[in-house]
Amino acid sequence: MKTAIVTGAAGGLGLELCRALVLRGYRVAMFSRDAAQLEIEATTLRAKGQVIALPGDVTDTARVREAVEHVEATWGPIDLAIANAGIRNATWAEDFPLGWAKRLMETNYFGMLHLFDAVIPRMLDRNQGCFVGIASLAGIRCLPGGSGYGASKAAMQAFLDTVRLELGPRGIQVVTINPWFIRTPAKDDGVPRPMMVEVDWAANTIVSGIEAGKKQIEFPLLPSLGWKLLRLFPNSAFAWLFGHRHGRSSIGLKILMLAGKLGRPSSNHRLFRRSDES
Ligand SMILES: NC(=O)c1ccc[n+]([C@@H]2O[C@H](COP(=O)([O-])OP(=O)(O)OC[C@H]3O[C@@H](n4cnc5c(N)ncnc54)[C@H](OP(=O)(O)O)[C@@H]3O)[C@@H](O)[C@H]2O)c1
Repeated sequence: MKTAIVTGAAGGLGLELCRALVLRGYRVAMFSRDAAQLEIEATTLRAKGQVIALPGDVTDTARVREAVEHVEATWGPIDLAIANAGIRNATWAEDFPLGWAKRLMETNYFGMLHLFDAVIPRMLDRNQGCFVGIASLAGIRCLPGGSGYGASKAAMQAFLDTVRLELGPRGIQVVTINPWFIRTPAKDDGVPRPMMVEVDWAANTIVSGIEAGKKQIEFPLLPSLGWKLLRLFPNSAFAWLFGHRHGRSSIGLKILMLAGKLGRPSSNHRLFRRSDES
């Protein structure tokens, strides 16, 4: 039986990943800050398999190390570690929220590094294991308001794509996940998002991809192909498409909404809202 640890497991994609893993026969350690919620979700999942709830914050290096030690002492080697915990806040250039920009990096990027630091030496000792980071297509190109989020996800991608070169030959699978929009509590705010996928579909797509040995998983197909194509666009063309027009929706957003057949965005529609608006 394989053992997995998932951060950000109290809700959203992290919880669905835990559910998908338990249903596939993994022992799952769930790591998240909200101890009460985590225990409720772990209790439900225990009806289906072996689950440990580990309250903690991914920004706390010592706590992440402690959690990994606890899992290995209880169940033995961790086969799969998924750095999923993440936050998403707007960082508009006007009235720039430096504190949020730092928190985004500390949670999304350094939070992943804390898990990496705790599990990789153990995986290297055994020359086996799998490390997964839930990044985002926003790390490839990000829309106005998402500079801090996009930067944290781009950092994750650069890190994972580089360590893969070092760890692959040592028998360790490193996987970058770049999802488009997934319907989770973080995204269930009434803002229309084109081609949004359901969270259980996303979790199963991710786990199936990991088990198939993939190193990069992007979904759904159309937005991920389109978004990667945008990387090839000159910055001037990207700015023409998605430039922020004094609160008015950009041409690119209108095209996205039409493509998703979800109606026209309102005149002040923003995918990234200020934290006081969310
Ligand atoms: N939803 C999307 O459309 C989408 C698209 C692309 C990428 N992603 C990425 O997918 C991941 C999950 O997103 P989601 O939509 O499921 O978000 P979510 O619904 O907000 O869930 C995030 C989870 O992370 C936990 N968390 C947040 N900060 C933490 C911290 N410092 N330490 C430990 N746990 C923490 C939260 O629980 P606690 O409060 O209990 O800690 C929560 O369970 C994120 O990395 C996100 O960037 C999401």
